[in-house]
This record gives sequence, structure tokens and C-alpha cells, in this order.
Amino acid sequence: MIIALDGPAASGKGTLARKLAAHYGLPHLDTGLLYRATARTLMDGDARLDDVAKAVAAARGLALTDFEEDRLRGREMGEAASVVAAIPEVRAALIDMQRAFAQRPQGAVLDGRDIGTVIAPHATVKIFVTASAEARAQRRALELRGRGEAVDYHAILDDIKKRDARDSARADAPLKPAPDAKILDTTDLNVEGALAAALAITEAAIIRA
Ligand code: DC
Repeated sequence: MIIALDGPAASGKGTLARKLAAHYGLPHLDTGLLYRATARTLMDGDARLDDVAKAVAAARGLALTDFEEDRLRGREMGEAASVVAAIPEVRAALIDMQRAFAQRPQGAVLDGRDIGTVIAPHATVKIFVTASAEARAQRRALELRGRGEAVDYHAILDDIKKRDARDSARADAPLKPAPDAKILDTTDLNVEGALAAALAITEAAIIRA
């Protein structure tokens, strides 16, 4: 069973992916971390984010196991990840690793922007998780504050809108629901409500499969 969760920044797809993975006992891959780690490698080496050769080398050099999540989750890393993610060669360099993860015999949960459209078009379940930009900015502000980052709600709302625009407008694997994805709008749902809705979608898909 492959569960594909896509959606914009701070939509709640990461939380849902972790909870669904725990519920079904499946491995989980947060594919945003791959783009964040690629951007981090470039920044650590004082390279530009649009240096295609270096970005591809950084993407190819990633190991799934050695992510220092703390250094990847901050506000500036989301923005930097979105920039490198628009480079088609970087996306190409990361495809095999993601598809191999999706094809694990026991199944897998992946979350990102292009799981249902590009990485796992034959996923058992596809959920496109969304929420209003304001609700997402509020959640992201809470999350970053919890991590000790000083944050300004309006700056985060601007970030989110900019990231939505960049992720949706790029030519290669833009953020968009697969035609057969179920849309889950979490604007007015808490985590428990969103999980219940995601489980209901998943169970219905399992019965159909
Ligand atoms: O999900 P996230 O916020 O960690 O993702 C960071 C950026 O990485 C996001 O703005 C766009 C890019 N990304 C992508 O292009 N494709 C994916 N499957 C996952 C993330």
C-alpha cells in the first residue's frame, strides 16, 4: 500500500503522514527534507542556490538516513528548498531515491508536492491536503515559535504565499492535485479531525483497491 500526501507548505500533510504511517505500520518519507537538505548542502558550501551543477551533485550525494532535521526545518530553509526544487535537474536527481522508497515491499507513506502526480502515480491512496494561507501561516508561526525561532505572522504569511506561487508556477512537477486525488481541506479541522478524515479516505481507497 502506498499512501501519497501532497499539498502546500504548512497544510498539515507532514503531521498526517506521520500519523498514517504509525497507524498502518508503514515507513514514511518526508520528501521536502530532500530539497531542504540539498539547499542546506549548497548553503554550507557557500554555493548559490541556482548553481545547477552543484545543486545536482548535492542532491545525488544525499543519504536518506543522515538528515539533521533541526538544521532543515527553519523558515529560511523552506524558502531555499523551494528555489532548488524548481531546478528540473535537481528533481530528476531525486526521483529514483523516492520511487525506491515508495516501492518498498511493505508499502510506504510519502508526503510532498508531486507524490501523486510524478513519484507514485499508481499510489493506493492520494490525498491533497490543503488549508487557507492564513490558517497555514498561523500553524507555521506556532511551530516555529515552539522551536524557539522569533517569528512574525505577517512575514510568515508572505513566505507561504510566495512559496505557494513558486511551487505552483514551476514548469516541472508543479504543486497540483492529481486528477484522482481526494482533496482534504484542514482549514477548520484540528489534528484529530484531519486524521479522522484522512483515515476515512484511506479506508475507502483500500476497500476499492
Ligand atoms: O514540504 P516542505 O515545506 O518541507 O518542502 C520544502 C520545499 O521543497 C517546497 O516549498 C517545495 C519543495 N518540494 C518539492 O518541490 N517537491 C516535493 N515533493 C517536496 C518538497
